[in-house]
Amino acid sequence: MPYLRKDGVLCADDIPLNAIAEQVGTPCYVYSWSDVAARYQELERVLRSVSSRIRYSVKANSNLEILRRMVEIGAGFDIVSGGELERLIRAGADPSDVVFSGVGKSHQEISFALKSGIGCFNVESVTETRRIAEIAQRLEVTAPVAIRVNPDIDVDTHPYIATGMRENKFGMPEKDAFQLAVAIAQDMPSLAFMGLACHIGSQVTELGPYRDSLDAMLELRSRLLQAGVTCASIDIGGGFGIRYRDEEPFSFAEFGELISKRSLQGVELDVEPGRSLVGSAGVLLTSVEYLKPATVVGYLDFCIVDAAMNDLIRPALYEAFHDVEKVMSTEGEARDWHIVGPICETGDFLASARSLALQEGDLLAIRDVGAYGFVMSSNYNTRLRPAEVIVEGDTWMVARRRESMTDLLNLEEV
Ligand code: LLP
Repeated sequence: MPYLRKDGVLCADDIPLNAIAEQVGTPCYVYSWSDVAARYQELERVLRSVSSRIRYSVKANSNLEILRRMVEIGAGFDIVSGGELERLIRAGADPSDVVFSGVGKSHQEISFALKSGIGCFNVESVTETRRIAEIAQRLEVTAPVAIRVNPDIDVDTHPYIATGMRENKFGMPEKDAFQLAVAIAQDMPSLAFMGLACHIGSQVTELGPYRDSLDAMLELRSRLLQAGVTCASIDIGGGFGIRYRDEEPFSFAEFGELISKRSLQGVELDVEPGRSLVGSAGVLLTSVEYLKPATVVGYLDFCIVDAAMNDLIRPALYEAFHDVEKVMSTEGEARDWHIVGPICETGDFLASARSLALQEGDLLAIRDVGAYGFVMSSNYNTRLRPAEVIVEGDTWMVARRRESMTDLLNLEEV
């Protein structure tokens, strides 16, 4: 457990969070590397019975030091932009360990990835495949490609992050994927067909949809084999859910059991987890600026903190729940506070109706923000993006300093 109380103070591993806030200021993201490493190792353990590769999904948290440590523990990677590839190269990753997904890869991104020696493109349409083939031909290289299948599988998650339904923009139906795979193998000499990929959504808590999508891909693979097309890898994507409140997501062990029951002879099974590796490792530290209790019946009790929707957009965008705790446990009368930021929008809320005994100046920890927290932050209202700190045991470091006004205004001219 990365976040426990010692003498009433919430700590990240062995470090009291108030000590970090005092030195770095708030708002500030803190990540427990021990938690990330433990999650990674657990997933690695359950996949050991099959030939497999963990490709950490960089979009969840792309802090360079997190990526450098991921390289160190042997992760492969899943990216969706040239920028993420730049980050990985900077962090010391080998591009051949990287798969490039996404529906809108630009000319520039494809050339850059090919010149870098990308491990595989997960292609999502016929026209994208043609574009990659042309660029590879021009560069006189062979582009490794896998086809992203859209298995039309419903998952119980927020509609914005469900990706495997027919009406979503991602991947292609099995029938089209079959035809394209045959065309690549037979008629597109600048491409090397690697296999099939799929990603059905994010924060998926049930195992059933993974069983269905894996079976759909295995079935497609055997039809391709019959047609003489070899398919060396199956990438089942990421999306494994975590517990934010009372969800009961399947465990890595249950996922491992599902995999071990399938016949995966001769195929490498890849996974692309993001949230399930880094989500629970992160907290956002924020200080209470003002308490504004309701003075009229029916009005809400507001707790105004120094973090806002620009720092953590998940509650505003998906009505996502994040637990909020006081860093120092103190007594007092609890009220149901609406925890909001200073931004000029009613949608700027971080949590609603949380029963806490609060005082101005209190330090709060917003939990489970290691995934899709800082990476989705912005400068809305000309707010400076927060610092990022990494803790491991009894040591900690500032992995990204707080933005300064100079950083922010550097690109503009007057
Ligand atoms: N692979 C592909 C192709 C993806 O599109 C994604 C996430 C992943 C892997 C990793 O999914 P994960 O294991 O992290 O669930 N901003 C949203 C989540 C967006 C997910 C986008 N794709 C949120 O805050 O919930």
